[in-house]
Amino acid sequence: MLKGKHIILGITGGIAAYKSVTLLRLLVKAGAEVQVVITPSGKEFITPVTLSALSGKPVVSEFFTANTGQWNSHVDLGLWADAMVIAPATASTIGKMANGIADNMLVTTYLSAKAPVFIAPAMDLDMMAHPSTVTNIERLRSYGNHIIEPASGELASHLVGKGRMEEPEKIVEILDRFFDSQGKLNGKNVLITAGPTYEKIDPVRFIGNYSSGKMGYALAEEAALQGANVTLISGPVSLKAVHPAIKVIKVESAREMCDACVSEFPTSDIAIMCAAVADYAPETVHDRKIKREHDDTPVIRLIKNPDIAATLGKMKQEGQYLVGFALETDSELKNATEKLQRKNLDMIVLNSLKDKGAGFGTDTNKVTLITADGNQQKSDLLPKRQIAELIIDSLSNL
Ligand code: CTP
Repeated sequence: MLKGKHIILGITGGIAAYKSVTLLRLLVKAGAEVQVVITPSGKEFITPVTLSALSGKPVVSEFFTANTGQWNSHVDLGLWADAMVIAPATASTIGKMANGIADNMLVTTYLSAKAPVFIAPAMDLDMMAHPSTVTNIERLRSYGNHIIEPASGELASHLVGKGRMEEPEKIVEILDRFFDSQGKLNGKNVLITAGPTYEKIDPVRFIGNYSSGKMGYALAEEAALQGANVTLISGPVSLKAVHPAIKVIKVESAREMCDACVSEFPTSDIAIMCAAVADYAPETVHDRKIKREHDDTPVIRLIKNPDIAATLGKMKQEGQYLVGFALETDSELKNATEKLQRKNLDMIVLNSLKDKGAGFGTDTNKVTLITADGNQQKSDLLPKRQIAELIIDSLSNL
């Protein structure tokens, strides 16, 4: 997919700059046209001669070429590119990019770039964990940039931790996949529910569950990256959606979530029911705190909540796709298939609580995707973001 693509490779001053040479070679080998832009401190780590020989283009570093006085136009470069990759991205460059400090050619080019930008941080583990770096990376993410998470391992300081620039092969794979899948959900309206619901008992208590919302938020980010307009109907969670194409509607109870879904579904092409909806709610909500000095132990009577997925299943029109989740502890496949049919879903994502690292609160998940025509696809135990990619991929195949 990289054949003929115009890539700006931004290199900054970190030890991992040696990996940029391999990255450049791999990009050129894949058929991309690469323009290297290097910061002044990047040149301390790797010479422009090597980079220009491999890219077949003069390396850009200064605003003016010293001997000719020719102006290097960051605006033209920004327009030329199909993608910009900054690898390695040091804490300092990340800070400048996040705050618009355009004191070198790389940051001015970044600020002018119209194309998607991929940032591969590389630094020592303590710098990586510092709140200012964390905030700057989050800010860059919220501007729609793609962060290529650094891996954990031995660092240049010989300390072991998170901060190693992702391997060049992996970066090429990420770019390749991006161009391959770009716009798989272009212009589609995607509705996603996420998180738990809270069912009020009295002003200070509720019935809830352990759902963290991580899977639903990962799905929302992935769908947005694939060009979708996402409406994320979220129960109470401590997460924030970062992609600008995600509209968040916050709700608390299953009833509120259901009302929001029913009003949004008619204009949705795809709905993914990822929330862990409470099946029951207290019949009466006390308007004052239930006090301890009761003569009897209080009894809370529960009533059934609406089944949101089944409600949308009944509303579903030709051309709309409805996806559900099933969290099971036993007879997993049988139960999930029954749910798929009962709720009129097109696909169900089964996770079993028997699988270690899958389900609630974890950063990973292991799923089986079951489609209405009986197809099954099993995943390994993967980060939730990768599970989200898998779900969006197989959905776009549907
Ligand atoms: N779901 C829903 N509304 C509910 C309950 C569940 O929309 N009131 C959705 C979930 O978001 C999920 C799917 O239905 O996509 C299955 O949820 P799950 O809790 O596994 O199933 P239930 O239908 O609640 O059945 P049970 O609790 O008996 O397993």
